[in-house]
Amino acid sequence: MNAGQYPPRVFSLVESSQNVVERTPGRPTEAAVCPFSNEARLLGRLGPGDANEVEAHGAGELLRSFGVLGRIHAHEDTRPGDRESRYAPPGMARLRFPEGFHWGAATASYQIEGAWKQDGKGESIWDRFSHTAGRVRNGDTGDVACDSYNRFPEDVALLEEMNLTSYRFSITWPRIQPTGRGAANAKGLDYYRRLVDALLAAGIRPFPTLYHWDLPQSLEDEGGWTSRDLAGRFADYAEITTRALGDRVSDWMIFNEPSIFLAMGYLAGIHAPGRRGLDTWLPASHIVNLAQGQAFQAMRASASDARIGTALALAPCQPMHDTDADRDAAERWHQLTNTWWLDPALGRGYPAVHPDGLPERAMGVRAGDLALCEAPLDFVGVNLYMRCGVEACDGGPFDIDAVATAPMGLDQGPRTHCNWEVWPDALYDMLMRLTQDYDGLELEVTENGCAYPDGPDDNGVIHDDRRIEFFQGYLEAAARAIDEGAPVKGYHAWSLLDNFEWAEGYGERFGLAWVDFESGERTLKESGHFFAEVASANGLEA
Ligand code: FCB
Repeated sequence: MNAGQYPPRVFSLVESSQNVVERTPGRPTEAAVCPFSNEARLLGRLGPGDANEVEAHGAGELLRSFGVLGRIHAHEDTRPGDRESRYAPPGMARLRFPEGFHWGAATASYQIEGAWKQDGKGESIWDRFSHTAGRVRNGDTGDVACDSYNRFPEDVALLEEMNLTSYRFSITWPRIQPTGRGAANAKGLDYYRRLVDALLAAGIRPFPTLYHWDLPQSLEDEGGWTSRDLAGRFADYAEITTRALGDRVSDWMIFNEPSIFLAMGYLAGIHAPGRRGLDTWLPASHIVNLAQGQAFQAMRASASDARIGTALALAPCQPMHDTDADRDAAERWHQLTNTWWLDPALGRGYPAVHPDGLPERAMGVRAGDLALCEAPLDFVGVNLYMRCGVEACDGGPFDIDAVATAPMGLDQGPRTHCNWEVWPDALYDMLMRLTQDYDGLELEVTENGCAYPDGPDDNGVIHDDRRIEFFQGYLEAAARAIDEGAPVKGYHAWSLLDNFEWAEGYGERFGLAWVDFESGERTLKESGHFFAEVASANGLEA
């Protein structure tokens, strides 16, 4: 990544304490982009008159609270035929992946399971949040979602149809411990045993994540991720779960994307549990690191052979301008958003990004904590959706004198339906950077994918060519990184199914399979058929 290869900044910053969406007369479509990764989930598709919607989602206050508004010209969706394929010129050589490479798809419990109070499950923060008026677009909830709790055999059949060898799913903590403490709920564990057994019978690696954001609500009531006690609670849950499933499951992830669930849920307040402020984020960020270390130790103790990783939301950070100040800012942003939950785990402590030193007091760091955070991970799960452009500023959302003014990517690639830039080199850059910085620690791409709304035509066929083109580009980037030495062991498309996309509800479809949310019926999209071919050939034309 060097600044020279990118064009000058693509939009101008507007200092604003009042206006949520600034519009330029004569410009048909403009989106306000919060200087924060993933905000575009909420803000990414604004048209004229949508400022009210921003306010309705509570994001106006958020934008003001960051004190900086970015304006970016929203891209029209790129339709097939609008541009030539950049990724698959005809007649090029076949790209092959290493022997034994895992081809997979990913999902998360709250996004697909439904059955929100079946078989003794306790309430999670996402149940509470989605049941609160005004929190999720259209008032959508995950009460039913894809009903995978009851229909999981259909999910396994889809994985088989696509020749996949790995399924990344997550475990609902309040199914296992309804209030987040105490004895396990046998029916909850039994559900995951049945799912895992069905996967094993189909020759598919079960690849669970312990925490994909559905904290038991009773633990949130006791302070959630700002309560130090939660680290121990989480380690207990990790131990119960690995003990119960460790005879069948060998590869685990502890967390999914601490950077996102903390930023969205404990800083910006637009995901569950809806809390805000840096004074909330700072202790929560440390307690998640403590929880990761303690859970790792508990898992190692109960399943000594387990291969244990964690899945991080990673976005290469690049300076918006070719200046030392922006280069330094991009590096600080990288360390805070990409490696804050990796370096402590690997015994490197917290990255030095704060101008006045680590805010230990505000974080609640105690003597001996860094040793407790250590979790010598066997692999890093790479969730990659975007790159981001960063520039120097005073303060910024994390008080590190840096801000992502292009959090959803720059202006060079086409945009997906939720306004994220399609930029395959982001995956290559991140895989290479991790390979260099972490001495060849094993990597798994645990999420990568795109939202497009394409639905069934008159014959029931779902022509989602843009998704195919997306996967071709990113798989080519992964293959290039592997060729240059990146130890990537698997690739998981996000997602197996269209599902509940958090604050966007059912408004963004990421699936390889279309889900009719009325009937629950699943249909493979053309991208699913494409992915099936890639998995069976262990490679693709590129
Ligand atoms: C990731 C989340 C996943 C899904 C995708 C689109 O940040 O891990 O649950 O929402 O984004």
